[in-house]
Amino acid sequence: MCDRVREGILVGCGNPLLDISAVVPLNFLQKYSMNEDDAILAEDRHMPIYGELVEGYQAEFLAGGSVQNSLRIAQWILRQPRVAVFFGCVGEDRYANILKEKAQAAGLDVHYQVKKDVPTGTCAVLITGTHRSLCANLAAANNFTIDHLEEPSNKALVDNAQYYYISGFFLTVNPPSIMQVAATAHAKQRPFLMNLSAPFISQFYMAPLLAALPYVDIIFGNEAEAQAFAEAQQWPSGDLREIGKRLVAMEKKNPTRPRIAILTQGCDPVLLIQQDSVQEFPVTKLAVHEIVDTNGAGDAFVGGFLSQFVQGKSLDVCIRCGNYAAGHIIKNPGCTYSGEPEFVE
Ligand code: AP5
Ligand code: NA
Repeated sequence: MCDRVREGILVGCGNPLLDISAVVPLNFLQKYSMNEDDAILAEDRHMPIYGELVEGYQAEFLAGGSVQNSLRIAQWILRQPRVAVFFGCVGEDRYANILKEKAQAAGLDVHYQVKKDVPTGTCAVLITGTHRSLCANLAAANNFTIDHLEEPSNKALVDNAQYYYISGFFLTVNPPSIMQVAATAHAKQRPFLMNLSAPFISQFYMAPLLAALPYVDIIFGNEAEAQAFAEAQQWPSGDLREIGKRLVAMEKKNPTRPRIAILTQGCDPVLLIQQDSVQEFPVTKLAVHEIVDTNGAGDAFVGGFLSQFVQGKSLDVCIRCGNYAAGHIIKNPGCTYSGEPEFVE
């Protein structure tokens, strides 16, 4: 059972995207010069993908967007509405309504910025066997502006929160908003958490990532993301533990609270890196027949983690809940859950 936590204790910013998910043949990927496990931003040449999926491949529509996924999962585990507040930008259309409905059904307190003349963002989830390739068309999500956070009611929500979570994905949209939330967290000595999100963030958005990093108390990532960060920094070692140690040792605004890195590696143990120590947390392997898809596993991990972190639980409990949540959504399509949460501390 969860302890009761205060409403609005957690604030997240990200890209609200509707996932358009379908099983496709390999030549579909080839046609768009995509690889089996990509996570990319759509360019002009990718735009026909979305229509093609809907018309030719029995596409499913699922609520997506990395941060919104994590917060929905946190809400599910907490069983108490409106603990988490979400900011992001949508259009004024059917997709925005679907996203809002799903988020609110999960208990999330959404405060979308609405751009009337731009469609809501979508993410193509191209499934080939056990692989998934993501192509995000941010559309309205890309129009998020800092003045949304400066509206008095929204500013009050940010000021009122005690925990802040923003994805690396949001670095492609609005770094000033990230810096503002980070500065608020820093001034109030409250934890600020970020995610490396995808290799392309370290490859192409390192400057804004490095600007935010000094404020980051906890950084999440998977193997490929950590490797991409290390490569972009021209670090010599490819060892995940070494990468984690270097990551936590980078400049930090508040040195009294050393940075923590949490690196997931699929069904291999989660690494918790604090200063010179690396702890491992085993993952319960799922049988092949139990796996529906691993989409959203990383997001669900963060959601499970946050659900405990906002209750002030130990990192050990937070990570075990992260693994529980990821394991659950792997048994469901996309980043969705079914039934009641069954996490026991
Ligand atoms: P997607 O990349 O599918 O989800 P994810 O949450 O990143 O999950 P992955 O499957 O990639 O997991 P991971 O590699 O991060 O973690 P790991 O394998 O280490 O992305 C989905 C969402 O991204 C979509 O909804 C989309 O909208 C959004 N998105 C895309 N582009 C975006 C953009 N530009 N902006 C915003 N949103 C965007 O695993 C993590 C944990 O899972 C492990 O620690 C473990 O607990 C568990 N786990 C993994 N594999 C197994 C296994 N085989 N057995 C048991 N447990 C497992
Ligand atoms: Na899933």
